[in-house]
Amino acid sequence: MPQKSHTHAQWSSRLAFLLAAVGSSVGLGNIWKFPYMTGESGGGAFVVVYLICIALVGLPILMSEWLLGRLGQKNPMSSMQKIAGRMKRSQSWGLVGLAGILGAYLILSFYSVIGGWALAYIKYAVTDTFSTLDGDSVGSLFGNLLGDPSTLLLWHSVFMIMTVGVVIGGVAGGLERAAKTLMPALVVLLVVMVGYAATTDGFAEGVRYLLLPDFSKLTAQTILAAMGHAFFTLSLGMGIMMAYGSYLSDDVNIGRTAVIVVFMDTIIALMAGMAIFPIVFSNGLDAGAGPGLIFQTLPLAFGHMSGGWLFGILFFVLLVFAAWTSSISLLEPVVEWLEEKTSMNRKAATIAAGLATWALGLATVLSFNVWSDIHPLGIFDKFSGMTIFDLLDYATSKVMLPLTGLATIIFVGWFMQRDELKSQLNVSSGAFSLWYVTSRFVAPIGVAVVFVFGLIN
Ligand code: PHE
Ligand code: NA
Repeated sequence: MPQKSHTHAQWSSRLAFLLAAVGSSVGLGNIWKFPYMTGESGGGAFVVVYLICIALVGLPILMSEWLLGRLGQKNPMSSMQKIAGRMKRSQSWGLVGLAGILGAYLILSFYSVIGGWALAYIKYAVTDTFSTLDGDSVGSLFGNLLGDPSTLLLWHSVFMIMTVGVVIGGVAGGLERAAKTLMPALVVLLVVMVGYAATTDGFAEGVRYLLLPDFSKLTAQTILAAMGHAFFTLSLGMGIMMAYGSYLSDDVNIGRTAVIVVFMDTIIALMAGMAIFPIVFSNGLDAGAGPGLIFQTLPLAFGHMSGGWLFGILFFVLLVFAAWTSSISLLEPVVEWLEEKTSMNRKAATIAAGLATWALGLATVLSFNVWSDIHPLGIFDKFSGMTIFDLLDYATSKVMLPLTGLATIIFVGWFMQRDELKSQLNVSSGAFSLWYVTSRFVAPIGVAVVFVFGLIN
């Protein structure tokens, strides 16, 4: 993303915008989180619900955020306040923006720790650790990493420094341009991995697990998880896409661009699943292994396939890169908020935001070892076994993002004028009506119902 300057620049090209949006959306959410959530929720039924949420909730909210940003031309909170003020609506809509900034801060604190895991795995790949692994030792490699807080802290710090470095240097645009070659490279590598998975005897079972829904596995919890992940994976509900929208020039077709981003994001997640589950089944591993799933499966593939040493390095480098373009988009709103609310200049604000995120990240680092038995909300049945990391994930994906997303879509669907929306979106009237009905009724009602049932159940 180009630097925000006082003369609010427009995107130099549509491609630059698209790269930034894909850079933010494609990340650990696709390759790390989607597969393990699928595995924890029992497979295909979760995937089907997730895809429905992407189409009926994610896509219309993505379009709404871009549209709001383009109209507001300011940071997310002020954009909403400005549009609200113009329509004589309450300024408290700005609170939605504030909740988004808090969400970005909380997410980045654990995102960086997981980015650190991926960094550690680059090192394992380079030192050829994978070639000797079997089903047991792949688990202990990961277990040993998690059990070692100082190593986790080291890599978390490196990842945070990388993120802060880009935002301070104002070279985020350069990173986005690199995405132009590296994202396709990631896709190619995933194809290679799926190709390898196809040679294993667990392939059919893995694909069936991923794509054949067994709806008896669905609970209110897994539906809420799928919906929350639709927000997470598309970077919604945090004002990030809204901020990007403020750089969007009027001639860009929001609907078409949103479909491209959503398609890319979804395909990458599904390919990651197709690469991982066959390995799970052919090695007798546990699909419900949780956050360690990719780290306990793909290294086996790299250990066995020809060229695996090189592919392993490439894969984890590209994973880190994808996580990096997402993490800079998470830090950005926090920095902008600090810059605006305090007297700090950009550099100081970036360092302060980075330090604050790094510090909170320590709680996630310790959640996997020293503090693994600390369950802050243990007195409530529902949260009994949850570590601080689990709670951060729960609070953001399952509470904050759905609520801010809900507020955004209600704002757009019910408080803005139909004509203005229509001219902003500039699509055929059929497509517009579809979007409008979804935004006014389907998405808000769906989110509200899933949210309420997920919480009380
Ligand atoms: N969408 C990113 C991913 O899937 C994560 C992210 C969430 C980035 C929220 C920005 C905001 O990895
Ligand atoms: Na994503």
